[in-house]
Amino acid sequence: MRGPMADQQTGTEVDIEAIAATARAGLAAADDEAALESWRVAQLGRKGVLTSVLRQLAGLPIEERRRIGAEANALKTELEAALESRRLSLAGERLAATVAGGQVDVTLPGRTKRVGRLHPITQTLREMTDIFVSMGFAVTEGPEVETDYYNFGALLIAPDHPARDMQDTLYIDYQRDGAYPFMLRTHTSPNQVRFMEQHQPPIRVVVPGRCYRNEATDPTHEWMITQIELLAVDEGISLADLKGTLFEFAKRMFGQERKVRFRCDYFPYVEPGVDMSIDCFLCGGEGCRMCHNEGWIEIMGAGMVHPQILTNMGYDAERVTGFAAGIGAERVCLLRNGIEDIRSFYQNDLRFLEQF
Ligand code: PHE
Repeated sequence: MRGPMADQQTGTEVDIEAIAATARAGLAAADDEAALESWRVAQLGRKGVLTSVLRQLAGLPIEERRRIGAEANALKTELEAALESRRLSLAGERLAATVAGGQVDVTLPGRTKRVGRLHPITQTLREMTDIFVSMGFAVTEGPEVETDYYNFGALLIAPDHPARDMQDTLYIDYQRDGAYPFMLRTHTSPNQVRFMEQHQPPIRVVVPGRCYRNEATDPTHEWMITQIELLAVDEGISLADLKGTLFEFAKRMFGQERKVRFRCDYFPYVEPGVDMSIDCFLCGGEGCRMCHNEGWIEIMGAGMVHPQILTNMGYDAERVTGFAAGIGAERVCLLRNGIEDIRSFYQNDLRFLEQF
């Protein structure tokens, strides 16, 4: 029971009800952050009213101590909660006042977070990969730092082949026996060999990844490019399978109306070798800067896997044959979007990249 309490023995008088009334009135009168703070110090602080009541308890007889202690603690809890809700309602009033005063325009759109996205080449590469996966190809990957053996030798690229020249290849600065055995792979083709070494026919596999060349860059050449390697080895695979697969890919990627062209080309690791081009989107085949006045743009090299390589892999080249292709994702993305300069992809200009 609350009320005035006089202790006969000590003469101390602790009137919790009066303390509570003063404190509540004081809180109701406090109308800004500074007033709230000085109220808190006076009522609940280390040297505040309630603390001193609790300190005095020690001198009281046991029953008084219990009763007043409980009342004081209850009041403390009540006042702390009241302080918090007073603080919140004052903040609400302040906000309402600013809005009413026109200082805050609540009709303004919120600030949107910038959302990231996949790089256009990653998007393109995934789309290309998906097309081949839907035709039954598996996906694997290989190292970007390659050895001379896988990048060139195992692909029958002779030691004096121009692709091995310092002009084309970025070698790792590490010498062994007077040679530089490690390089950044110049194409994804080393993975033909890597995969065949580990698997037996039938093989259907694609290998996407970055490749590096010491290029003088221009609108259609970059020093870092992204390829997807395609390899199928089985009994009875012919050039017709190669053309059918690649033509189907071109139609799905570029639309039914796009024209494709196969021509003979030379790559030491295929026989026969071809390149596949699609008609230039910019000039419609008339000839322009984009297509180097040819009307066609080469998007891949391909061919029938050289029988010598099949034999080297331990396959019976009389029984199994295969086709391989390497497609550049940058050119595919250029053509599909009418982009004029391959260098745009890696200049990190968000105005360009955000369009994808
Ligand atoms: N590796 C060749 C290139 O980078 C493309 C290719 C792949 C050609 C497979 C034939 C067979 O241009």
